[in-house]
Amino acid sequence: MEQRETFSSRFSAIMVMAGSAIGLGNIWRFPYMVGENGGAAYIIIYLLATLFLSVPIFLSESIIGRRSQRGTFGALQVLAPGTKWKYVGLLTVFSALTVLCFYSVVGGWSIYYCLKSLTFSFSNVNAHQVPDMFGTLIAHPWIPLFCHTVFLLLTAMIVGFGVKKGIERFSSITLPLLFFLILVIIIYSMSLPGASKGVAYLVKPDFSKITPSVVVAAMGQSFFSLSLGVGTILTYSSHIGRREKLLGAGVATALSDVLFALLAGFAIMPAVFAAGIEPGAGPSLIFETLPYIFASMGSPVVSAIAAILFFVAILVAALTSSISILETGVSYLTEQKNMSRWPAVFVLFVLTWIVGCLCSLSFGPLKDFHLMGCTIFEFCDKLTANFLMTLGGFLFTLFVGWKMSKSDVRDELTLGGTDRTAVRLFGLLYFLIRYIAPLVIITIFLTNLIL
Ligand code: PHE
Repeated sequence: MEQRETFSSRFSAIMVMAGSAIGLGNIWRFPYMVGENGGAAYIIIYLLATLFLSVPIFLSESIIGRRSQRGTFGALQVLAPGTKWKYVGLLTVFSALTVLCFYSVVGGWSIYYCLKSLTFSFSNVNAHQVPDMFGTLIAHPWIPLFCHTVFLLLTAMIVGFGVKKGIERFSSITLPLLFFLILVIIIYSMSLPGASKGVAYLVKPDFSKITPSVVVAAMGQSFFSLSLGVGTILTYSSHIGRREKLLGAGVATALSDVLFALLAGFAIMPAVFAAGIEPGAGPSLIFETLPYIFASMGSPVVSAIAAILFFVAILVAALTSSISILETGVSYLTEQKNMSRWPAVFVLFVLTWIVGCLCSLSFGPLKDFHLMGCTIFEFCDKLTANFLMTLGGFLFTLFVGWKMSKSDVRDELTLGGTDRTAVRLFGLLYFLIRYIAPLVIITIFLTNLIL
């Protein structure tokens, strides 16, 4: 088994976790989910879900990971020896890899848009005739497959270099840059003619739009965005130093993730309305909206620079998340199957590449192939965000709330009583983990199923 590495500092631990959380889930998925589910009311539910469900799940995963110093399978095996809990770990490895299959397809699209911006493709078009680049891309026989392959190769290489040299260094440099760039895009997007309708869409809730499936989608988005229920936060937490405060790291990660999703909403939605694009356009939303934003900047040089910076930033955000997903699987193979890091990376690369290709083709030649009414891409997305991540999160809170001893949980979360804030909040947090989170998740889930 590999020697377990520890993150260098509190700052890098937060950067790495926030790097996992902040990604395509915020920039690509959040805006289109808001659009598909009716705007502001959905955002309110998403925020409530984050506070009452995601934060307790996040802490549960952190407690399991750091306490056991193992990846998701080994962690449950160490903390509940001789029980079937370890299979929950196996389930989450499967969920994580399923996410990676479709995630890398979207990551591939962002590579394509990076290349397009490098060739000034957004500068030469009239804003009102932005060509349907996205349609051209996904219908192409091999370009999306090629880009998906490149994205997955980049992910594999970073993970291959290990937790400190690869993952930690990469995330710490790139995240701050991303925040800065999205602010610039917001300012521009809000100044477009007609943008105010987009802002109203984000801040004026229409509660009549809320249905059980909207609630499930909001909850799923919150879990997806915080990388929960698939053992990723658990695995990363196993590398957090024994003296770091888990509560502080969890809250910092959740706050930056939510903030980033809202920023992305305010960057995209005003431009969606300004461009007359349908807010419920689905996964293509940002890829149709962003070219419009860049094209309408007027000066070709300015628009090219903005496009290059922005798409590179999206790519990087996607990579800091995809590496966390792959690491979840790699830690399982290296710890449990005694494989070395590079061979483990290789095996998982091949598996996710194959299924990822099918996801990618489901926008083209395989678009009529349906599983339970969804294309392969949609199936992987919905299966994970609306089902597997929810299930995983539910099981992790059950484990910490009911299987682990309360004194162990307190010891881990409060650092043996030295983290004053955690000591003060322990009663509330434990109540959320033990009762509220599992009960609410199961209720929402079953209501949706029955209706
Ligand atoms: N949270 C990531 C994002 O928002 C996606 C992710 C899901 C990462 C699951 C890890 C595990 O893009």
